[in-house]
Amino acid sequence: MTDVLWSLLGLLCLLVCLWVWRRTHYRSFWLLIGYPLTAITVRATWRKIALGCGLTKKRQRFWFTLAPSALVSTGTVTVRRRFKRVAVDTKPWMWLPKPTRYGWRVTLHTLEGQTPEDYNQAAEKLAHSWRVHAVRVSSPRPGRIVLAATMRDPLVRVDQIPASTELLKVTVGRLETGQPWVLDFRTVPHWMNAGATQSGKSNLANALIVGLAPQPVALVGFDLKGGVEFTPYAPRLSALATCRTESVSLLDDLVALMADRMGLCRQAGARNIWQLPPAIRPVPIVVLVDELAELYLMADKSEKDEIAKTSTALLRVAQLGRAFGIYLFCCGQRIGSDLGPGVTALRAQCSGRICHRVNDPETATMTLGDLDPAALVSARSIAAETPGVAIVASQDGQWYRARSFYVAEHAAEHAARMYADLTPSWADLTEGTHDAEINDADLDELLKA
Ligand SMILES: Nc1ncnc2c1ncn2[C@@H]1O[C@H](COP(=O)(O)OP(=O)(O)OP(=O)(O)O)[C@@H](O)[C@H]1O
Ligand SMILES: [Mg+2]
Repeated sequence: MTDVLWSLLGLLCLLVCLWVWRRTHYRSFWLLIGYPLTAITVRATWRKIALGCGLTKKRQRFWFTLAPSALVSTGTVTVRRRFKRVAVDTKPWMWLPKPTRYGWRVTLHTLEGQTPEDYNQAAEKLAHSWRVHAVRVSSPRPGRIVLAATMRDPLVRVDQIPASTELLKVTVGRLETGQPWVLDFRTVPHWMNAGATQSGKSNLANALIVGLAPQPVALVGFDLKGGVEFTPYAPRLSALATCRTESVSLLDDLVALMADRMGLCRQAGARNIWQLPPAIRPVPIVVLVDELAELYLMADKSEKDEIAKTSTALLRVAQLGRAFGIYLFCCGQRIGSDLGPGVTALRAQCSGRICHRVNDPETATMTLGDLDPAALVSARSIAAETPGVAIVASQDGQWYRARSFYVAEHAAEHAARMYADLTPSWADLTEGTHDAEINDADLDELLKA
């Protein structure tokens, strides 16, 4: 009896130790205990789960039996032979799962006629069957599928990671895969950042300001909320427009600056500023726009001309800015076609899309475009309790769930003050550019290039 008691006590101690280990150092617990058990279970139950999720295919096999004409449950051709042709459910071949920071990942070989879309459709069923937070599907090459399972939502808490030191690259948060979320303006020059109020749009702009402030770039702000968002960052901004009239004049400056840079590139025989020798290369400019819709909303008819001018100038910056080192980051609660054709055309130029929590499915569709429907579902299910979580789509055609680091206004303000001496003056930047103009022939040539 005492032996049994001692055994029970030993088992209890072991369980308590495991629990404490799991609580105090989850990563080592996961690697040494959690992952091996999970890998064995996943492999052992794969046939049942693949069958349940509709990922198997019927294949004809010959089965040998010592009892001819015995019934085989998988649909037998009952003939009086020792070899029978039977249809069996074949599962996709599964490699051994590999541990990841937040779960595990496994490669599968697709069966004939299967596409990644079939696995995408089964992703939610797989997540429930494996009792994990989510399963994401990718296909590194034809015939191979990688399923990445996350045990719990990695975006509930995101820790700050070291800033990127490369020009125009900013690490703004973390992807759900555990990778850093990097906005790289040289790869994706223009971004749309949409989301309902309090969803984390300005927080992301703050993260950008903190990341770009120490870099040799000029920052320009359009803050149509009367300047409440960007005025505190004025020490690091080369120019700031806080109303429509200021916006029109600032956009005129930007278009003239672009035309001037175009002349410079033409003289040097370069296609863009990055092909110019560093000594004469103009400084890149990142344009931050908060509340994009305000640039397009008309209070009365007298504003019609101003809006048309703004819309054309902004579109021109988006069309040509990439070559001449002018990059856009536009934030807004709604970026819909109801704001006019200018917004739709601008949206088409922004290959980088970020969709925070939205209230209506329309905004998600408009922001993420005709991306995978699962991305839209994911955008609509972002909880209000997790501001900063967003769906990110960029040039690689993939979409990711991500969360920005929390960057309070005072941190961005501090960075703006600390690097104020790196701010190029707007007068210096635009000096002698006002004679420069882009004519229609130039525009055609550049748009074709
Ligand atoms: N990544 C994040 N982590 C933690 N908290 C965040 C994060 N992003 C935003 N928040 C919190 O959410 C609040 C709202 O964020 P933010 O001001 O960026 O929203 P917004 O989308 O710009 O709203 P609005 O449209 O009203 O300007 C902030 O006060 C901040 O505390
Ligand atoms: Mg805001």
